[in-house]
Amino acid sequence: MSKRPVIIDCDPGHDDAIALLMALASDKLDVKGITTIAGNNTVEKTTINTLKILELTGMTHIPVAVGRRNPLMQTIQVANDVHGVSGMDGPELPDPITKPVDLSAVELIAKIVEESEEKVTLVAVGPFTNIGVFLLAYPHLHDKIECISLMGGGYYEGNRTALSEFNIWQDPEAARVVMRSGIPVLLHGLDVTHKALVKKDEFSIFREEKGPIFQFVADLLDFFAICYTGERKLEGCPMHDSCAIAHLIDPTLFTSYDAPIDIDLDGTLTRGACIVDLRPRERRDNPDNGKMVLDLDRKRFLNLIIDSCRKIESNLKNA
Ligand code: BDR
Ligand code: CA
Repeated sequence: MSKRPVIIDCDPGHDDAIALLMALASDKLDVKGITTIAGNNTVEKTTINTLKILELTGMTHIPVAVGRRNPLMQTIQVANDVHGVSGMDGPELPDPITKPVDLSAVELIAKIVEESEEKVTLVAVGPFTNIGVFLLAYPHLHDKIECISLMGGGYYEGNRTALSEFNIWQDPEAARVVMRSGIPVLLHGLDVTHKALVKKDEFSIFREEKGPIFQFVADLLDFFAICYTGERKLEGCPMHDSCAIAHLIDPTLFTSYDAPIDIDLDGTLTRGACIVDLRPRERRDNPDNGKMVLDLDRKRFLNLIIDSCRKIESNLKNA
């Protein structure tokens, strides 16, 4: 079976890092490029973190391109409170020696999509600025996008405001461009990602396995848990961004609903909220422009994370 070509747009980020490991390990996905975006931290820092992860995994052949420094209409507000001052605090990885390619994120996405014989899947797990700009600038390439698998938003809850989740709250205008593009969208919002936990008593699984990848994940979890099991009172760390990757590897892990999804831009209390119409198809006029993912099989999802780490450990040993 041929691998599905994907481009990952991300802002590592603890959960972004684990999502990248899963994609890099998978024999179902062919990671054609990684683009970085300002979100959890500045784009300079999220790029450094991305390069560190590729060097750790020995996958430096994958091109990395630097994305937009700010959302379309706002100024970036980094998430030091969740991800620390580096954007990926906890693990100690050497400064990268590799460099990003000499193209912008949007140019790299366009080049890969243009040159690909197959349709390409986009994964976006940071603010959607790069993807929004790409869609606006290259309308003739929309037909070559298979789907966009996103982490963002939510049906019942937000995390930066009552109804707005971080990735959409940073750049609601770009999120609206993505949702209204007509391209199939798989939206993994907080409803599902807050169930996609590695629980505190499961951290030892990673700590006890030997090897640099397991230790990297164990260090990520320890730091990420400070915010999530502290102030946010979850039972463990939510693997938000891994959902967008895991769904492409094994869709049977998730429960989704067909639904039109739009983004509110103007509400005093609801700017950046996902407006999702889950009423039956016959009761609404809008077309189905997306799938809202609301649930998952947590145990099998956790096993997929563990298997992904094992796979990269084994690749490193055999290199
Ligand atoms: C999202 O925001 C970031 O903190 C995470 O990496 C994830 O993409 C969760 O709201
Ligand atoms: Ca992210």
